[in-house]
Amino acid sequence: MTALVEHRDAFALAALPFGDAGRNRTLPRQPLIRTGRLTLRRPEARDAEAITEALDNYRVAKMLTRVPQPYHLDDAGDWLAMIGEPGPEAWIFAITLGGVRAILAPEVEAANGNVSDRLVGVVSIEWRGAGSRTGWHLGYWLAEEHWGRGIMTDAVNAAVARFFSVMMGETLFSSVMADNPGSLRIQGKLGFAITGVEDVYSQSRSAGVRLITTELTFGGYMPM
Ligand SMILES: CC(C)(COP(=O)(O)OP(=O)(O)OC[C@H]1O[C@@H](n2cnc3c(N)ncnc32)[C@H](O)[C@@H]1OP(=O)(O)O)[C@@H](O)C(=O)NCCC(=O)NCCS
Repeated sequence: MTALVEHRDAFALAALPFGDAGRNRTLPRQPLIRTGRLTLRRPEARDAEAITEALDNYRVAKMLTRVPQPYHLDDAGDWLAMIGEPGPEAWIFAITLGGVRAILAPEVEAANGNVSDRLVGVVSIEWRGAGSRTGWHLGYWLAEEHWGRGIMTDAVNAAVARFFSVMMGETLFSSVMADNPGSLRIQGKLGFAITGVEDVYSQSRSAGVRLITTELTFGGYMPM
């Protein structure tokens, strides 16, 4: 245990050259990430239809602050154009079900109709320069047909692990709507702590909503 703490302290010290607040706002080029069952890749124009199908669903959209309802193909096109080529201040991943196991067993992929490269969700880590929580922010959503199988836990863990491997000593901010215990559970498993509450406007609900704010420190991360 002592060795682990010392190890983490060494990581924290390694982050000091980036500024007295330990802030480094330059990410290396977005990696391709594979887990046993998922691949996280850059979103592309061809994902617009899958994004539209997933987000034109109030049960998904209501947990996100800025997703209109109904959600049209143009909305997905606008979002894809807006994220463009991710620069050094964002990693934005399309989640697909084509992980290492599907690659090693192509017959599985064939049996699934070669759908494994289809976007089923998004996980993102972006720098936000405004507001009281200036820093790196985590967000995510998953198409409803894939809920309840541990996919987002796997995806968020993979993205966070890669983030901390290149951004040692940083803190990740996030938030969860107060009526979203499943999302809070994902964050709790990974070591996020609740830091407060705030009220924000939800576009899909056309109403104010209570947000639980959270953060994950480098030392607090519990890899899955
Ligand atoms: C929230 C969301 C990402 C979860 O994705 P998922 O792949 O189903 O999540 P996982 O299966 O990895 O994990 C969900 C965890 O929450 C738990 N959970 C689910 N519903 C719950 C509930 N009502 N109360 C408490 N825990 C709950 C699950 O049991 C699981 O925990 P476990 O692994 O300990 O069993 C997905 O439902 C979604 O995209 N919702 C709409 C958009 C959204 O909420 N985005 C996040 C904004 S913060």
